Amino acid sequence: MELSKRVLQLKTSPVRKLVPYAEEAIKNGKKIYHLNIGQPDIETPVEFYDAIKNFKDKTLEYAHSAGLVQLREEIQKYYRNLGLNYSLDEILITVGGSEALYFTLISLFDEGDEILIPEPYYANYNSFYDLLNIKVVPIKTSGDNGFHLPEKSEIEKLITPKTRAIMFSNPGNPTGIVYRKDELEMINEISKENNLFVISDEVYREFIYGENRAISFGEFEDAKDRTIIIDSISKRYSACGARIGCIISKNKEFMKYIYKLCQSRLSAPTLDMVGATALYEIDNSYFIPVKEEYEKRRNILFQELSKMEGVKCSEPEGAFYSIVKLPVKSAETFCIWLLEKFHVNNETVMLAPAEGFYKTEGLGKNEVRISYVLKSEDLIKSMEILRAGLIEYRSLFEK
Ligand SMILES: Cc1ncc(COP(=O)(O)O)c(C=O)c1O
Repeated sequence: MELSKRVLQLKTSPVRKLVPYAEEAIKNGKKIYHLNIGQPDIETPVEFYDAIKNFKDKTLEYAHSAGLVQLREEIQKYYRNLGLNYSLDEILITVGGSEALYFTLISLFDEGDEILIPEPYYANYNSFYDLLNIKVVPIKTSGDNGFHLPEKSEIEKLITPKTRAIMFSNPGNPTGIVYRKDELEMINEISKENNLFVISDEVYREFIYGENRAISFGEFEDAKDRTIIIDSISKRYSACGARIGCIISKNKEFMKYIYKLCQSRLSAPTLDMVGATALYEIDNSYFIPVKEEYEKRRNILFQELSKMEGVKCSEPEGAFYSIVKLPVKSAETFCIWLLEKFHVNNETVMLAPAEGFYKTEGLGKNEVRISYVLKSEDLIKSMEILRAGLIEYRSLFEK
């Protein structure tokens, strides 16, 4: 019996590709510091659990397909605080940002249509692109200038009659980029001149360090019919397991079809929406210590990496990731070696080889993505292990 070509072509995410090696290492008694996944160790606010404990309905019913009204109202308030006004029918709740992405792509793309996206990009987008047969046209960016966008004319060259949208995450996974106002203005101009949708994945909005400000694409009034914002509570409230996200757009026709897709899966998880409502009710001051904590980790990571011989990375400005160039030929081989052969006092680190975050063949081979989601002591230890690992690996294999 054969499975569909659609699923057979699916690739394993670079973040999870090395899981079998990690499982084996754990079986052999090694402790692993996970710098490969974006699973923060920050506690989920207690308000989430309390709201679920206080849920007294005798039957756990399907919720409205559009999402609980109370949750949509809270999200509406959250956006109003950012200076953005959305009516309730411009906010639809999804099962994580992931479903928001999937539904958006289903609604905008036919097979063979093209999407423009700066690379490296969040590798899980590929599952959706591949399932829907969307052709990815990468906009090349480089760590040498902090992964900022190239000139407008470079991007325009990539547009064909089949291009339907420009998509990006801001702040960016996996690069930690925060796009500047002029870069977003350029995207706005390109999208206007070429009649393209803009899919702005803003799930890391709260996590910006230093001078910059998170500019939502929703701020571009003249782009409102072309803009789709992807959002989620996973990172904002450190609640990845709650599976609540949303799609926000002022394009009524688009939202009409998103709603149909929401109806097709009946309901987002009711209890998770109850918890998420309580999260959005929390005062904004909640973000201050959380952001400080990530900033501290970002600083540790950057300082420690800067001290390592041959290692290069630009200072991440947002989210909690960094693309790091290592002085090895194959980052993947090195990452596997770290899991299989290396340890410091029976501890090692797991990194994500960055090749899978690129579309262009051959790019990212000597890079890894590091997530700074561990507390400072663990991050410092991880950096010591990485430094020792690099020295030993190079002396063994790359002299
Ligand atoms: C850029 C980006 N977008 C969307 C998501 C999806 O998150 P979730 O489905 O948990 O909301 C993630 C998760 O890591 C992400 O990094």
